[in-house]
Amino acid sequence: MATTESATVTVTFDGREVQVPAGTPLVVAAAHAGVEIPVFCYEPRLGPPVGACRMCLVEVEMGGRPMPKLQAACTMTAADGMIVRSAATSEKAEEGQDAVLEFLLLNHPLDCPVCDKGGECPLQDLAFRYGPGKSRMTLPKRTYEKPLPISPSIVLDRERCILCYRCTRFSSDVAEDGELIARERGAHSVIATFQERAYVGAFSGNVTELCPVGALLPTPYRFKARPWEIVNVPSVCGGCAVGCNTWATVREGRTERVLSRNHPEVDEGWLCDRGRFARYEPLTDRLTEPLARSESGLAPVSWDEATRAIAQRLRHVDSLDGAGSVAIVTGGSLTNEEAYAWGRIARDVRAVTASGPVAKAGAWELLDPYAARIDDLDRADVIVVVGDADVADRGGVLDLRIRKARRRGAHLMIVGPGGSLLERDAGSVRQTGGATTAQALADLVRDPGPLAAATHPVLIVTDGIDVAAIAAAAHALGLHERGGVLPLPTGANERGARLAGLAGGGDEVLAAIEAGAVHALVLLGVDPTAEWPEADRWQMALSQVRHVLTVSPFVNTSVSWSHLVLPQAVDYEREGTTTNLEGRIQRLRPATKPPSGVPDLAAYVAIAGHLGIEISPAPSKAYAQLAGELGIPLTWSELNGRAPLPARTRAAGSAPTAPAPAPAAAVGEGRFALIAPRPMASGVAVERTPALAHQRAPWVMLNHEDAARLGVSEHDAVTVRHAGGDHTGPLRTSRRLRAGAVRINWAGVQVTGDAEVVRA
Ligand code: SF4
Ligand code: SF4
Ligand code: FES
Repeated sequence: MATTESATVTVTFDGREVQVPAGTPLVVAAAHAGVEIPVFCYEPRLGPPVGACRMCLVEVEMGGRPMPKLQAACTMTAADGMIVRSAATSEKAEEGQDAVLEFLLLNHPLDCPVCDKGGECPLQDLAFRYGPGKSRMTLPKRTYEKPLPISPSIVLDRERCILCYRCTRFSSDVAEDGELIARERGAHSVIATFQERAYVGAFSGNVTELCPVGALLPTPYRFKARPWEIVNVPSVCGGCAVGCNTWATVREGRTERVLSRNHPEVDEGWLCDRGRFARYEPLTDRLTEPLARSESGLAPVSWDEATRAIAQRLRHVDSLDGAGSVAIVTGGSLTNEEAYAWGRIARDVRAVTASGPVAKAGAWELLDPYAARIDDLDRADVIVVVGDADVADRGGVLDLRIRKARRRGAHLMIVGPGGSLLERDAGSVRQTGGATTAQALADLVRDPGPLAAATHPVLIVTDGIDVAAIAAAAHALGLHERGGVLPLPTGANERGARLAGLAGGGDEVLAAIEAGAVHALVLLGVDPTAEWPEADRWQMALSQVRHVLTVSPFVNTSVSWSHLVLPQAVDYEREGTTTNLEGRIQRLRPATKPPSGVPDLAAYVAIAGHLGIEISPAPSKAYAQLAGELGIPLTWSELNGRAPLPARTRAAGSAPTAPAPAPAAAVGEGRFALIAPRPMASGVAVERTPALAHQRAPWVMLNHEDAARLGVSEHDAVTVRHAGGDHTGPLRTSRRLRAGAVRINWAGVQVTGDAEVVRA
């Protein structure tokens, strides 16, 4: 019975002894003993237990004395000598659980046959296994208006709610958005949004997975499928470089729903709303076959003709015009294997390449000695976030992990222009004035503040463009010896594309086109005329290039300038691997087939084949080729399930050098410095998803003094005029945003420079 040296305690569950570390939640300890204690409200990811539902009632004996009443096991931790009897061996516990279930079902509508949760519902399962079997309720049940949309993506059925508070705890304690509340008291308690407004928050959809009954449901999935008709395919989200693990729910060849597939080292079972709800629909303008331009416009051609023509044109341009006359550009949507095929083609035709809109100053590998893992945030004592962009926009669920670390006690320091989402409860905020990220990093090295004494600091740079500056700062701050750095790439698989040979920036390619050096341009899953800065210049550039080849899922502006077009697969149609921001390689599995019927990799391999390059069209074999060439230590089968991140050697190395930070661009008289990173709720898929329309609402943020000077106040419509066009939205005033800056949230392209702000 005694506590062992390593603070292990012995607990007996239904006569089975088990040793667990002291402090283990009783529910978890019971699972170790092979005893199930049923739960509804217990969910460790939401913070301390609240003991709301009483489903976990057990009999407990301590020090030889039975505790007088049944105990909620979820609120207790294992203590040495504890004897626990669950409903399996204790009549009293069984009676208690029966009573709890009968009580929970008093007002529950028992509409399982028409409830979307039916068949995958914990309440249904536990009622079946533990419930009294029949109800003594003869009075009319409580009814509410239903379903109630709490946002365009979530509906609430209050009659089904068992008031476990999982949803409100997520909102207040995990996402910290304070959007969901429990209103009224006792039997009249209901879940509600503040003043019945729509739940707006980057992570709202998680409540639909947390809800243990059919009270909170994702609107797009309502009445779409029954559990016996679906297949859940394990894959990875392609929305950003975090690479959250997902299940794609497929019914009759369509991905109808995306659920999280908890990878504790990556996403902890959370998804952002973009990853959960964004769909590449409607399909009316989906490209389904290769097209070639003739005098009468774009017309369908066979795959063989198209792939041969592409190879011939690339070879011809390279032979005729020399190195650098072909440009191959991607935005981070390719798999590693697809990028590898194009990387090999690029080498063969001596192409200039780009894997994102802006060239990185320095190679990504410079950061390897300082690399942090995402789960380093769980150990961090100081977290510093540097940059203009919000973490939620660039790195989705990283925002939730940072908040969790801050609640645990880590010091959160924000270095930026002000007005970011994480600032409100940060331990310290350093406003950068008009400084660039490189200048802010140099300043951080001069005055590291709380970073100086940190034992496990994590530096997050939200615009990971100036890689050399980040590496130099990381070295100067000693992040090869403690903690590390997490730079956030622009595209989901930008990192994989760069490693596979498509490094470089779109700005460099654009300059080369304008200089007349590029005669064949390949656009791989990116439309720079809509997604990248300098959209007008890109349009002009496309009109100058002799051969434009576009690979795209949909008809877009670039397609209208193209001479050859290949259809592209979208998320959940691809097979292969992707590399997340930590460098973790994870497997994508196809949940459905691309409408063209031809996998992208097979088409690219065919082009490579016509150029005499041998690559296997089987993703597993192409991965083996790529892994062999790049020295990746993991085999295809090792990437199954939850992909590991191999340990990296942290060679101290010499200090990387970075050029002196360039000064920030000058801001014209009477104008404002524009801060307009690309929001998470933007992009082709988001634009096509009605359930995300409310998350895309534009706004303009000004410092409160600037707003007063302009004579505009909160909610007034104001127009921001800049080189990329005019944008009008409601005003938000802020005391945190620096004076002289305007922050805008637009679901369009990322824009920079300065702007005029006027009342609309
Ligand atoms: S809506 Fe669902 S998650 Fe929220 S309190 Fe009710 S049952 Fe629990
Ligand atoms: S955080 Fe990124 S990877 Fe995760 S669900 Fe959102 S978009 Fe997808
Ligand atoms: S699970 Fe223990 S009270 Fe709800």
